[in-house]
Amino acid sequence: DDPRLKSISAAIRVVPHFPKPGIMFNDITTLLLHPKAFKGAIDILVDRYRHRDISVVAGIEARGFIFGPPIALAIGAKFVPLRKPKKLPGEVISEEYELEYGHDCLQMHVGAVDVGERVLVIDDVVATGGTLCAAIKLLERVGGDVVECACLIGLPKFKGRVKLKEKPVYVLIECLT
Ligand code: PRP
Ligand code: MG
Repeated sequence: DDPRLKSISAAIRVVPHFPKPGIMFNDITTLLLHPKAFKGAIDILVDRYRHRDISVVAGIEARGFIFGPPIALAIGAKFVPLRKPKKLPGEVISEEYELEYGHDCLQMHVGAVDVGERVLVIDDVVATGGTLCAAIKLLERVGGDVVECACLIGLPKFKGRVKLKEKPVYVLIECLT
């Protein structure tokens, strides 16, 4: 019922049959073409997290790198990229996770997050929840305290809740199709 949500969902494009037949792809690049709607999304998240004592915003490659940094700057937190394998030059810690077909992996630089730091995880979409689960595990393994995960779009039909159990995930827009 936040009036900004309407313009945010209107600016997200759904592309059928991408990247594979049958997949409805939620494309956030069109949101980025609408600065007011884009800013509305960032502002909602900044308002939600600014007084939660968060010192780390962790963004998941690739689209968490678009939404994470403006939130981190606005709340005075550091930004930590969680990257796909073999992209980070320093010593890394890795967490593998299952995809529908095959598996993937997220990596983080050792030393980027200190024990006890309060962390916000940012990505564009939560579907099965596998990616967020891997991010949470990675951060908790180094002693991070994951306060919440936030995504622009939730796709409840992929039952992310099953995998994420009670883990706190906030989504701006629930996509019911
Ligand atoms: C997409 C999306 C999320 C993830 C959600 O990323 O950006 O990160 O899938 O799916 P899940 O909840 O089932 O894990 P993808 O792995 O396609 O990679 P990309 O962001 O690098 O394009
Ligand atoms: Mg992704």
